[in-house]
Amino acid sequence: MENILLISNEPERWDSFERGLRGSYKFIISNPSEKTNFSNATLIAIDKTEYIQKIPAAEKRKFPIVFFGNSDDFSTEISARKSGVAEFFSPPFNKELFLIRLRNVRANSENVRWMQMIRREMIYVQDCMAEILAQTVESRDKNTGGHILRTATFIGILGEEFVESGILTREQVDLIVRAALLHDVGKIGVRDSILLKPGPLTDEERLEMMSHPEKGANLIKTMQKRFESHTYLQYAYDIALNHHEYFNGKGYPNGKKGEEIPFWARLMSVVDVYDALVSDRVYRSGMPKDKAFEIIFNGSGTQFDPVILKAFDNCKDLMI
Ligand SMILES: [Fe+2]
Repeated sequence: MENILLISNEPERWDSFERGLRGSYKFIISNPSEKTNFSNATLIAIDKTEYIQKIPAAEKRKFPIVFFGNSDDFSTEISARKSGVAEFFSPPFNKELFLIRLRNVRANSENVRWMQMIRREMIYVQDCMAEILAQTVESRDKNTGGHILRTATFIGILGEEFVESGILTREQVDLIVRAALLHDVGKIGVRDSILLKPGPLTDEERLEMMSHPEKGANLIKTMQKRFESHTYLQYAYDIALNHHEYFNGKGYPNGKKGEEIPFWARLMSVVDVYDALVSDRVYRSGMPKDKAFEIIFNGSGTQFDPVILKAFDNCKDLMI
């Protein structure tokens, strides 16, 4: 026998209904004025639309919700279904039909859960592949070891500065951190002889190096076609394409300026340069943090967005 958790302040109304279901389902009554214990339920029933607010989001994801109405009032049914109710029952009740409809509700709910689990696993696998791709690019250039993971950490810290003001949501910051891993993925298309060249680049070589934002964006666009559900790939595209743009329009590849440059790409450009300045290279030591901040602040309004630099200054202590 399975339990239907019934949230109702008039449970006696459903007594005869439950008796009709004897042997199939048992009602656990929860008064809406009290704290509800969801632990023994297999599904939830309500008899007033406002009770749906009393069900925590986590429980809503776990259990299908059905509505026991007492009339053929379509507006109540519409309102209930809009609020996430999976099935609406109203008199006259027929036990056999009720059991069939309830079985369908549970089967649909299982299918949705199954799909959600598959989706989570697909996202995890795809994230892993994206990270492996990013690390593969980085592994070609021993000079920049750890740059990708450090800049992803830094962009998370910097992004957090914009959550309280509502410019970014925490979910967006999470997506931006994941997207940042792919910012230099286009370097996969830059030849070793240029990527690993210790000395200064010729004009032609510099042009090839400067093609990495577009190469990365094209690669991500291909991934977007395959993985349509990935919101973060749009952030990854924006970041890969625009992280070398300058706030004054003098960057590359498209000379975008100001707010034409996606906000997350403006964040990336700051942490990308910061990490390059403070990190050791084979041919030089990383510079002290204060000096790196000074150089970056000299680029306020030219290379970097002044608003972002203000936030960058706020989290200076958290930057290693
Ligand atoms: Fe880059």
